[in-house]
Amino acid sequence: MKWRFIIIIFLVTLTGSFLINACRKGQDDLPGKTPLTFTVPEGFPAPVYNFSSNPLTEEGFQLGRMLFYDGRLSKDGHYPCASCHQQIAVFGTYDHDLSHGYNDQHSNRNAAPLFNLAWQKEFHTDGKYKSLEEECLDPIQAPNQMAEEIGNVLTKLRGDAHMRDMFKAAFGTEEITIERMQKALAQFTVSMITANSKYDQVKRGQNTYTDYEQRGYELYKTNCASCHPEPMFTDYTYRNTGLQVSFLNDHGRILVTGKKEDSLKFKVPSLRNVSLTYPFMHDGRYKSLRACIEHYANPGQSSTLDPLLSNGIHFTNNEIIDLVAFLRALTDSTLVRDLRFYQTH
Ligand code: HEC
Ligand code: HEC
Repeated sequence: MKWRFIIIIFLVTLTGSFLINACRKGQDDLPGKTPLTFTVPEGFPAPVYNFSSNPLTEEGFQLGRMLFYDGRLSKDGHYPCASCHQQIAVFGTYDHDLSHGYNDQHSNRNAAPLFNLAWQKEFHTDGKYKSLEEECLDPIQAPNQMAEEIGNVLTKLRGDAHMRDMFKAAFGTEEITIERMQKALAQFTVSMITANSKYDQVKRGQNTYTDYEQRGYELYKTNCASCHPEPMFTDYTYRNTGLQVSFLNDHGRILVTGKKEDSLKFKVPSLRNVSLTYPFMHDGRYKSLRACIEHYANPGQSSTLDPLLSNGIHFTNNEIIDLVAFLRALTDSTLVRDLRFYQTH
C-alpha cells in the first residue's frame, strides 16, 4: 500500500516537471506574430540556413536591427556591429583595409561584407564559425573589436524597458537571453540579400551588357568561374592565391584545421558587389580591382598555391578593362539603399 502511494507521488511529480519544462520551452521559442517569407531569388540554389530552428518574423527582424545598431553591445558604447558593417559598403567597412575597434585598435582582417549569408555554411575567411548565431559572439568579446562581456551586454539590455518589449514581441516573453540575442541578430543579417545587379537583370532578360561587359563576362567564365562560380560568385572553398604574408602574419585556414595543407588558404569571397567592398583581399591590401586581377598574373611560389594558378592568369591591358567592366556589373545598389536595413534610432 505504502509503496504504491510512493510510486504514485513519484509519477505525479515526474509528469508535473515534464509539463512545466514543456511550457517553459514553448515560451522560450515562441516566434513573433508576423512571419516573414524568405524568398529565394530566381536562379539561386536552396539556402543552407536552418530557418526551422529560427523562424523569421518581422518582430525578430526588427529586434535584430535594433541590436545591430546598438552601441551597448560594446564596452564603451561606440562600436556596434554597424560601426564596422556599414550599409553603404554592403555591410563591410567603407574605405578601410582594417576596421576600428575598442580603444582605437584595429581588427585583424578586412571586414567581410554581409549579404547572401543564408547560402553560407561557414563564416570568417578561415571558416572558424559554423553558424551566424555562433559568429556574433566573437566580435562582442574580441578585445580589439567590441571588447565587452556577454553578461554585461545582457545586464545593460535588461535595464531597458523598450528592449524588454522588443524581446517580448520577438520571442513571447520579456526574458533577455544570449540565445535570443543571437537569433535576432541572425534574423536580421540572414535577410540581407542581393540579387539585383546588372548581371542578374541581364540573366532575367531585363537589361543588356555593353560590349566591354560582354567581353569581360567571357573572360570571367574562362578564367575566374572555377573558384568564383555563378550565381553566388564563390564556391565557398578555401584557396591559396599566393598572396605574400603581411605584417599581420595571417596564415588563414590552418588556424582552424591545424593542417599544413591548409596554410595560407582563405575563403573564396563572392565577387558580387565587389566594387563596393574596396579595399580588397582578407587584409584589404589591394586598392583597385585592376591590382587584384594583376595579382593573378604572378602569384609567386608557395607549396599550397592553388594548382589552377600555377602558371598564373595573364591578361592584356584591354582585357583587364573588360574584366573590370564585368565586375562592376555585379554591383547591386538595392541592399545598400534599402531603408528596412537602415538604422532606426
Ligand atoms: C571592429 C569591427 C567589427 C565589429 C564591431 C563587428 N564585426 Fe563582424 N566582422 C569584422 C571582421 C574584420 C570580419 C572578418 C573576420 C574574419 O574573416 O576573420 C567580420 C565578419 C563577420 C561575419 C562573417 C561574414 C562572412 O562572410 O564570413 C559576420 C556574420 C559578422 N561579422 C557579423 C557581425 C555582427 C552580427 C556584429 C555585431 C554583434 C559584428 N559583426 C561586429 C569586423 C567587425
Ligand atoms: C584558384 C581560385 C581562384 C581563381 C581562379 C580566382 N580567384 Fe579571385 N579570389 C580567390 C580567393 C581565395 C580570394 C581571397 C583571397 C584572400 O582574401 O586572401 C579571391 C579574391 C578575389 C578578389 C577580392 C575580393 C574582395 O572582396 O576582397 C577579387 C576582385 C577577385 N578574387 C577576382 C578574381 C578574378 C577577376 C578572377 C579571374 C581572373 C579570379 N578572382 C580568379 C580565388 C580565386
